[in-house]
Amino acid sequence: MFSCNADNVLTAKRQMRLRHRFPTLENLRKAARGRVPAIGYDMVAGGLGQDLAVQRNAAALDAIKIVPRFGIDAGPIDVSVELFGRRYNAPIGVAPMGLQGLFWPGAERHLARAAQQSRIPYTISTVHGFSIEDAVAMAPDVAWFQLYRFAKDDHKVSMDLVRRAERAGAHVLVITVDTPERAKRPSELRHRLAVPFRPTMKTILEVAVSPQWLAALWQHGRPGFPCLAPYCGNGASALEIARFSEQEIGGAFTWEELKRFRDVWKGPLVIKGVMHPADAEAAKSIGFDGVQVSNHGGRQFEAAPAPVDVLPAIAAAVGTGMTILCDGGVRSGTDVARMLALGAHATFAGRAFLYGVGAIGASGAQYVTDLLAEELQAAMRQMGAVDFLSLRSFAKRHADAVIF
Ligand code: FNR
Repeated sequence: MFSCNADNVLTAKRQMRLRHRFPTLENLRKAARGRVPAIGYDMVAGGLGQDLAVQRNAAALDAIKIVPRFGIDAGPIDVSVELFGRRYNAPIGVAPMGLQGLFWPGAERHLARAAQQSRIPYTISTVHGFSIEDAVAMAPDVAWFQLYRFAKDDHKVSMDLVRRAERAGAHVLVITVDTPERAKRPSELRHRLAVPFRPTMKTILEVAVSPQWLAALWQHGRPGFPCLAPYCGNGASALEIARFSEQEIGGAFTWEELKRFRDVWKGPLVIKGVMHPADAEAAKSIGFDGVQVSNHGGRQFEAAPAPVDVLPAIAAAVGTGMTILCDGGVRSGTDVARMLALGAHATFAGRAFLYGVGAIGASGAQYVTDLLAEELQAAMRQMGAVDFLSLRSFAKRHADAVIF
């Protein structure tokens, strides 16, 4: 659907071959599972507890039914969307994700370039595998920056990150509020994914039999958190930076703190991780421009509802004065259509993009972008929807919607 640059080459012929091999995202996930060592695959695919919230996010989307209408020839459907004054080619962005390089070395670079090429939002995590400056340079027209909380010394590190993001040219600042503390994730404990990292013999063996992953590691190097390097002293090792991130990130943002970021950041500001309409309204009242309805991909609180189940109430509460984004469990363009029908202006995905890279390598990011946009168009044609606004008026069954 979107053209491609030299690096992530996806010619029409190759795209056709990939369509036959990977007609759905589930095919990509399965293929990725076979190529990515368990330590990387489990870290991305898993959540916490028994992974119930991860499963719930997907199941909640599956459960939403939309009644199609006939009699309108929609013609070619424009899936571009304007967000915070910028036009994007599809209402599907890349969610912020740390440690992508453990899943597939070089994944950050592939995703950033595919997002820039396709012109879809690309969110740089605080714990991204490149510095803010390098990451924005890879996706200059579509880069957003996501911020975690570093409370020490009056938020010195957070404030500096915000200033760097602004100088580098990030368009939107996304503040994540759903991580008051690092969740206990069984897959990370099982694989001893901690600082300092001491891999088990099983992990070493699994890596040794993952030749494509090893080749990517050879090309792109080990994952780390270079965004944070400037705060760890000259010549800090990867281990010291990882330790810094583990010790310094966390604690719950207060509304007073969030207000300070509103005062410092002059561009569009989004609050990510909101699940209650009253919190969305509070964010709106202190000047946030957007809300990202999200439960961190089911990675923080196992009893949380699926974002899509609280989305209609949040959309109704904030009305028209706020841009509504939603993520969690997106595995098809039809899922994107479901979220848009329930009130989102745009959607984000995390794992879906990584599964593309794990299955195919560099051009997997581009492949997933195309797949989701094409499926969204197909879903809208089937529904008889001419544009995103009309999507909202379709009759729906949404039995698990949370009533506040
Ligand atoms: C995340 N997520 C996340 N969120 C955030 O605000 N900052 C971060 O650094 C990360 N890191 C991260 C790593 C990994 C491996 C995953 C899977 C997720 C959450 C992410 O932005 C998003 O909310 C979810 O991934 C959306 O769910 P799906 O699309 O992955 O199901």
